[in-house]
Amino acid sequence: MIRDFTHRDEVRSVYRKRAALYDFTANLYYLLGFRLWDHRQQAVRALHLRPGDTVVEIGCGTGLNFGLMRDAIGPTGRIIGVDLTDAMLEQAAGRVRKQNWDNVTLVQSSAAAFEFPSNLNGVISTFALTLEPGYATVIKRAEQALRPGGRLVVADIRLPPGWLRYLAPLMIWLVRPFAVSMAVAKRRPWDVMRETLAEYRYLPRYFGIGYIASGRAISDASQVSENIRGTPAPTN
Ligand SMILES: C[S@@+](CC[C@H](N)C(=O)[O-])C[C@H]1O[C@@H](n2cnc3c(N)ncnc32)[C@H](O)[C@@H]1O
Repeated sequence: MIRDFTHRDEVRSVYRKRAALYDFTANLYYLLGFRLWDHRQQAVRALHLRPGDTVVEIGCGTGLNFGLMRDAIGPTGRIIGVDLTDAMLEQAAGRVRKQNWDNVTLVQSSAAAFEFPSNLNGVISTFALTLEPGYATVIKRAEQALRPGGRLVVADIRLPPGWLRYLAPLMIWLVRPFAVSMAVAKRRPWDVMRETLAEYRYLPRYFGIGYIASGRAISDASQVSENIRGTPAPTN
């Protein structure tokens, strides 16, 4: 039976096997033309972090984004990395130790069960949020945990729009090693972000297969519709 990775324990068991070589294997997508580092840099820039800020990363994995965020928040800021998989967090802990970062906290939890601290300046998730079946609730809870003006950024891959969609059943085999199935790729976090956040932006990349979605928390929910001025969300 082909697994569709809609259960967290399936996803965790994939990442337990991937953890030791995750950084190397994830970078193999460069061979297909995906400039992942550039994608990460753009995603972190979209957080608009400043020195002293506190940021939560959902599905932080081995911590490949930590350096970029740490550059922005400096030694007085704080990074809270949350991940479902113990083995991925062990890799992240090794990175943190090696870099001597004393302002990174790692939490093993599903995104759905994580209790966000309040007054956050940013929440980010790269290639992870759609692996969480309860991603819509996570987005809403993240928005509530952000201080007014704080930003949520999601960078991920998705079912491509247009004719490329017909190739999706083939393309999915390239990402199945990372627990992405058709069912997972059909998830649409940007729809929830568009409804929940102000200054919603959607940046399509790589023929629409990749995207960076972002938005800003506001204290008054009635302002959301007033503030949606970003790129229209894809309808397909
Ligand atoms: C493709 S990796 C991305 C890691 C990192 N964000 C990056 O960009 O390299 C996906 C990560 O999400 C984690 N993950 C999957 N489902 C999750 C969930 N429901 N809650 C929290 N983390 C989850 C996995 O354990 C894995 O570390």
